[in-house]
Amino acid sequence: MTAPVSSAAPDTGQMRQALPLVSVRNLDVAYGAQPVLSGVDLDVRPGEMVALLGASGSGKSTLMKSLTGFAPVTGGTARVAGYDLTNLRRGDLRKLRSDVGQVFQQFNLIPRLSVLTNVLTGALHDAGPLNLAGGFSSRHRRQAMEYLDRVGIAHKAKEPARALSGGQQQRVAIARALMQQPRVILADEPVASLDPKLAGSVLQLMREIATRDGIPVLVSLHVLPLALEHCDRVVGLRQGRMLVSAPVSRLDADKLAGLYDEEGTSRDHH
Ligand SMILES: Nc1ncnc2c1ncn2[C@@H]1O[C@H](COP(=O)(O)OP(=O)(O)OP(=O)(O)O)[C@@H](O)[C@H]1O
Ligand SMILES: [Mg+2]
Repeated sequence: MTAPVSSAAPDTGQMRQALPLVSVRNLDVAYGAQPVLSGVDLDVRPGEMVALLGASGSGKSTLMKSLTGFAPVTGGTARVAGYDLTNLRRGDLRKLRSDVGQVFQQFNLIPRLSVLTNVLTGALHDAGPLNLAGGFSSRHRRQAMEYLDRVGIAHKAKEPARALSGGQQQRVAIARALMQQPRVILADEPVASLDPKLAGSVLQLMREIATRDGIPVLVSLHVLPLALEHCDRVVGLRQGRMLVSAPVSRLDADKLAGLYDEEGTSRDHH
């Protein structure tokens, strides 16, 4: 029997019961005749931050790419933000990509443009050609400043992006992703270029976005302790197959070790 949920309880528990924003079943991805992912299952629910772990070449980036139609799904099903990746119409792909905020290892900002303008580019899907020619609307500017404030660098709004540190640039990239009003955020090794302290603070910010704003985050990481500290669940890949999928509190140490053992990386030595 389950205990009744107190009405005073935070609603993150309820959010986790909600429909997943990412739902992948038995997913295969292949480049030509080369299979990269086989039989992968993955759920990411509102409020959650899920870590994607695995040795180099295990398929983390490919899985992320498949969720936005940048890698070919050859079997199974994948639903993201209500879109069925295996049955997309042309117009849907653009809509899907505007509903998915992406954060990358190398930040992917435009270096000579101001921090504010970089954040505003997140609203481009919403802006239309006239707005582009005439600049961004004051509503979007206000919103961009709010997000910059949220990620703690509003005071840098006028500086060119290239003048910021790595940690600050990644915060700009997160503000840009928020500017899209995403339903889910995919972050592929977002802290791999940052020192450990900055890495922790950027992941903490993402966790807060997941729990407070209810925008779930799927984040690939190559440092296990960061996943254990900041994420709710871990999905671990080895040679394109799912070896681990469990809440952080119920992880099997042997299986985790298996993610990084010799066999797990042998694909790189062929
Ligand atoms: N465009 C592509 N065409 C053919 N093979 C590819 C392509 N992209 C990736 N692969 C192959 O798919 C496998 C998984 O690569 P992927 O980049 O997804 O790994 P990863 O887990 O993200 O590794 P890393 O930790 O180094 O970023 C590798 O064997 C890689 O060579
Ligand atoms: Mg990768």
